Amino acid sequence: MLKGKFIVLGVTGSIAAFKGAELASKLTQAGALVDVIMTKSAMEFIAPLTFRSLTHRPVATDLFAPDSELSLEHVALAERADVMVVAPATANFIAKLALGLADDLLSCTILATKAPVIVVPAMDSGMYENPVTQENVAKLRSRDFVIAGPTAGHLASGISGMGRMLEVEELLGIVRQVLGRKGDLRGKKIVVTAGGTQEPIDPVRHISNRSSGKMGYALVEAARDRGATVTLIATPVALKDPAGVEVVHVNTASEMREAVLKACSGADALLMAAAVADYAPIKPAGQKIKKGQGTLILELKKTPDILSEVKGKIVKVGFAAESENLVANAQKKLRQKKLDFIVANDITSKGSGFASDTNRVTIINRAGKAEDLPLMLKTELAGLILDSVAKLLKRS
Ligand code: CTP
Repeated sequence: MLKGKFIVLGVTGSIAAFKGAELASKLTQAGALVDVIMTKSAMEFIAPLTFRSLTHRPVATDLFAPDSELSLEHVALAERADVMVVAPATANFIAKLALGLADDLLSCTILATKAPVIVVPAMDSGMYENPVTQENVAKLRSRDFVIAGPTAGHLASGISGMGRMLEVEELLGIVRQVLGRKGDLRGKKIVVTAGGTQEPIDPVRHISNRSSGKMGYALVEAARDRGATVTLIATPVALKDPAGVEVVHVNTASEMREAVLKACSGADALLMAAAVADYAPIKPAGQKIKKGQGTLILELKKTPDILSEVKGKIVKVGFAAESENLVANAQKKLRQKKLDFIVANDITSKGSGFASDTNRVTIINRAGKAEDLPLMLKTELAGLILDSVAKLLKRS
């Protein structure tokens, strides 16, 4: 989605300017056309050549540059930007924006643009927490600037506190989310579950399955990038929380049930990609179970069927990982759980099991008609699944 997008990246005078360079590089690698504007103080920390080398595009630094290829640089850049990002944004620059000052190329461009502007604060915690900075940030927020971060953590001053610039991966998610605001799922609320539930046996052990969460996370990012408001309900997985979505962390099937039922009130679609344990120990031991002489018998109870419990005007999509009778088993689940469609995959087929980046699935629609899809990346498959969701939502 970043391919061919014009992104104006403003860099101001903070030690976090090196992260701005990383952002410029990642955006360029993703196919965006990144025009960097640096303030004078930014150039004390990092050279324009760094950005020119990373973006393969000229870097603008001077409001009065006589030899610029653009006749009125701030107007030209402001007009062609799909999104503007100020990363890092200092307390001083945020104050300038709050006042509407336009005394350098970057502030002029922001004042002139109609594109969304993402401001990424980076500063010492004292400066960030100062009421005047807080007031300025609130002012920008009320004028529809997107304020990304900061977070708490290690600061260049040596202390730990609030003011650390967001990491680049997270910023990429926010840029994609802002660019996707006009997507075909805008205004839609989508709930996605991901990962495998964990049912405790005792304080150190649990029953779980091999779900990696990759399919669910791919759906979350794709839905966010198409303008949806997304809630992800995730079990512990080795994937980072996606930026720009609400994430609810759960462990057990019963916690997932509670979170799903809550998130689904007022939602347009539920994509139940999580592998939910069908059975859980009746009563998890309070203390670690000690090794005995004979065999150990664990008594299990059935967990709630979450998908079946979700009712009302909501598009419901199920996932079925099968090892035999793929279509028949999936059709049965489709009917029993009253789904709009089900995405079924044969876990014995090459490249489409748990933890894989690819999947080969059969999609079965409400009428029970099965369509085989070729092996593809889970990220691509997420796009196709959302195409079907978008179609169903348009009809409803
Ligand atoms: N599912 C659910 N609640 C459960 C079990 C499963 O909501 N307690 C959802 C899954 O998230 C998935 C779909 O139902 O979207 C099918 O899951 P699966 O485990 O294949 O179905 P089961 O009904 O549990 O059937 P079985 O395990 O016997 O194949």
